[in-house]
Amino acid sequence: MKFDRGWLPGARDVDWIESIARPLEPAQEAIEAAAAQPERIPIVDRDSGRVLAALAAGRRRIVEVGTAYGSSTLWLALGQPADGTIVTIDPDRSRTDLARGWWREAGIPDERITVVTAKALEAFEHSEPALAGPFDLAFIDALKPEYEAYLDALVPRLAPGALLIADNVLWSGRVADPAEGDANTQALRAFDRRVLGDLRFRATILPVGDGLLVAGFGG
Ligand SMILES: C[S@@+](CC[C@H](N)C(=O)[O-])C[C@H]1O[C@@H](n2cnc3c(N)ncnc32)[C@H](O)[C@@H]1O
Repeated sequence: MKFDRGWLPGARDVDWIESIARPLEPAQEAIEAAAAQPERIPIVDRDSGRVLAALAAGRRRIVEVGTAYGSSTLWLALGQPADGTIVTIDPDRSRTDLARGWWREAGIPDERITVVTAKALEAFEHSEPALAGPFDLAFIDALKPEYEAYLDALVPRLAPGALLIADNVLWSGRVADPAEGDANTQALRAFDRRVLGDLRFRATILPVGDGLLVAGFGG
């Protein structure tokens, strides 16, 4: 239990963690710089990325929904064993081709990361072979209204003991704010409720980045 129950971590704490953390790989800095360009591709922030890397330890088979420039993919690849593999899904090849270059720059062999160029639900529905599983970790970070459908598609592909992780589940405070009711917020609320209430999972939400749902799958 905390000594001071009224204390919540703030920007100073995040900065302190940043100051003692392992420096980013040059490829990670390059991805951050590219994502910050005018198109502003939303990628996981460093705090969430470090959680992904820590949770990927010992997880050999990973699936990801939503690749973009491959920042989260790279955090996962750096955290998992050197013989681990990742299957990552994104319909936007112009982004994932750039991602491949940064993964190579970071020393990740091509054969460790398979990109499925498709809309995730269509790829799952068409039983894309690369998505057969079983997977030891699944990370969701694509279309918010589809999070529940990704969950339905992923559960049969999870190994017992797998981790399910999803980004943006607090959605900059909108999910917990009853005054907010746009479609993305409602979808994320429903997703959070569903996973945290599902007895097959031991789940919680880490107030890291934009909110990171972490769930252990009992099978
Ligand atoms: C938030 S970004 C992913 C960021 C990435 N996980 C990271 O942190 O580096 C969301 C990505 O989902 C992709 N996307 C859009 N529709 C999709 C779909 N139907 N299935 C899978 N990915 C989709 C977009 O092209 C975009 O690159």
